[in-house]
Parts: sequence; structure tokens; C-alpha cells
Amino acid sequence: MQELRKGLYFVGARDPELKVFDVIVPTDTGTTYNAYLLRGEKTALIETCHDRFAADLEKNIEEICPLSDIDYIIADHTEPDHSGALHTILDANPDVTVYGSAPALKNLKNILNRDLNSVVAKQGGELDLGGFTLKFFSAPNLHWPDSIFTYCEELRCVFTCDFLGCHYCAETDDGLIADDSRYLAELERYYTYIFGPFPAAVKKGLSIIRSLDVSLICPSHGPVLTKGIERVCEVYDRMSEDKTDKDLISVFYVSAYGYTAAMAEALAEGAREAGKNVSVYEITGTEKSVLAKAVQTSGAYMFGSPTLNRDALPPVYDLLNNVSAVLDRNKPALIFGSFGWSGEACGNLAARAAGLGLAVDEELCKVCFKPSEEDLAHLREKGKAFAEKV
Ligand code: FEO
Repeated sequence: MQELRKGLYFVGARDPELKVFDVIVPTDTGTTYNAYLLRGEKTALIETCHDRFAADLEKNIEEICPLSDIDYIIADHTEPDHSGALHTILDANPDVTVYGSAPALKNLKNILNRDLNSVVAKQGGELDLGGFTLKFFSAPNLHWPDSIFTYCEELRCVFTCDFLGCHYCAETDDGLIADDSRYLAELERYYTYIFGPFPAAVKKGLSIIRSLDVSLICPSHGPVLTKGIERVCEVYDRMSEDKTDKDLISVFYVSAYGYTAAMAEALAEGAREAGKNVSVYEITGTEKSVLAKAVQTSGAYMFGSPTLNRDALPPVYDLLNNVSAVLDRNKPALIFGSFGWSGEACGNLAARAAGLGLAVDEELCKVCFKPSEEDLAHLREKGKAFAEKV
């Protein structure tokens, strides 16, 4: 427990041992699950925490007041790392009233599997605690549809849940405030995984923050921000810029005997004739970060694989894992590959690419074994026609 401002307490939990958050997000310093108690004439708990740390949350609150003193819980976002311990409060205090967006309250019904007193926190809505007033701002897709920000004018403080947060657990028990390069590296990594798919929502979120008089930002992971707020916002500014070059076509392939490679070069040659910038990548010989950046920045793709055991080869599927089903949606994609007898690779890659939301060209460019001069001429024409439509 730590008093951040008069009447405002940190009551969350530290998780320094965590190595990977939510199955896919690495963290070198663990994380924190921040929750805040705000005591006016009425008492509000803002966020709870992961269920694994329910006992820490309870202990921290009880250093200030019994759980039965809590009048309101504000759920700015309901992913279970912030709502998992809510049942602990409800068990002790079933009369508490939960404020959240309409989607948040719907989520909570399915997370808690019980009835609860609830009020929809509408855009611009307020909750008077007596001495402190909370004002709600809709912030959808930051990073779930349920997300809101909660602002306390008297404290010039905004509670943003995941937004402007960081999987960073400071080494000291009271280390809620950090200012070092490791924090900034984790901030960027956190942004990439959590907010990377939602740049337009990020820009709206930043405009809300900048419209408020703020001296304290209370996210639900990592340091509370009292200084360097604009510096963190600038990281979000930079990372939410659209980096797509609509005239860039990237050709990714693997090739066992050079046949699919020859197809890649012919398609690329045709696309260049159409005036596009074309980059060709043999997947296994290219560093993963280079491939990931190429996927992110390209306006269109070509994916090639020979067929082995009735499927495309794993490196191409791994490459496709870099395609964002949100950000890269509707980018044009062309599929190609050489085969020996059955040739399922192209169809399977096309299905995966379509599942990611790419606009897959209806012609699958398949060649049996080695492409002939006639095949290569057709591929050049096809590459040109595809590029002209991009
Ligand atoms: Fe930290 Fe989206 O939960």
C-alpha cells in the first residue's frame, strides 16, 4: 500500500517473477497489477487485479479500511488481470456498486457468473464521492471495446488501465516511479503487443489525455506517472504513426530446389515493371525482425512455398504469423509455388491468408516442378497485373 495523494492509495500487486504475460508478451522485469483506492465521503476502488493476487489486494485495502467500506468499484477495463480478483470484494461486500462501460458490465457477468449491482459509466458521466468527483471518458479499443478512462479533477489524475501502462516491475517495493532506459524499452514492447493493432484508437486516447489537466497518470501496469507524462505520450505518438508504404510489395518465399525462387523473381520483375517498389525475401535466410518490419510496412504481399507432404512449409506459416488480422486487413496478397505431384501448398496458404483478412488474388500461381520460359513469362505478366491493381 502506498499513499499517492491525500485520499488516493495504491493497493495493487507486484509480480516481478512473471516472464511472459498473456501467453505471448515477454517481460524482462515482471509486471504489476495496479489498483487504487480513492477515499472521499464515499470510497471507490479503481480496478482490482489478477485473481492470483487477490490476497495482496485484500491485505493492501485492509491496511486502509475494511472491504465493507468500499461503496463503488470502477472497472475501466475487464480483462481478468484487472477483474479476476473482483469476486473477493463482492464476497465480502455484496452491496458494492460496479461502474463500467456497457460492454464491461456484460463481460463481468460472464467473468463472475453472478449478479452484481452495476451502473453504466457513460461518456461524460460523473460519480460524486464527496470531496472527489470521478468523470468517465469512453475509450473503446484501448485495448478492448469495454475500455474507459476515469478522471478525478480534484487530484488532476486520470486512471487509464492498460493505456500508457507498461509491464515493468520496479526493483524496490515502493518503486512505482521509474525513469530509465529499461522502462522505455519495456514501454515500447508493451505498446507493440497491446496497442500496436489499434493506432486510430491510440490517437483518440492521446487526445483525451491531452484535453485534461493532468499531473498524475495511474495506469494498471507499471509505474504511476508523475513526471515524463508527455515523454510517454510522445512514444505513443511515434508508435501509432501509419508506417505502411502503399507502393511497396514484398515477396516472401522458401524454395528447396530453386523452382519457387525462380517464380518469385519472375513475379517481382513483373511487379517492378508496373512501377512498384518490390523487395524479395528468402524467408529462412532473413532475420525475423527484418521480415516482421517488411510485413508491417508493405502495401501488398506475395507468398510462395513448394508443397511438402500436402502442405506449405512451416517457415511460410511462421512468416504469416507476422500479419496482423487487424492492421493488415484487406492488403492484397498473391500466392505461388512449385509442386511435384499434388500441390496443396498454394491452396492452404491462400486459406490462411484469407483467414487473416488479406485480399487474396483468386489465381493461385502453381507450376509443376521447374517453371518453363513460358511459365516465367506468364508469371511476369501476372506480377505486373497484380501490382497494377494494388
Ligand atoms: Fe492489462 Fe488488457 O489487460
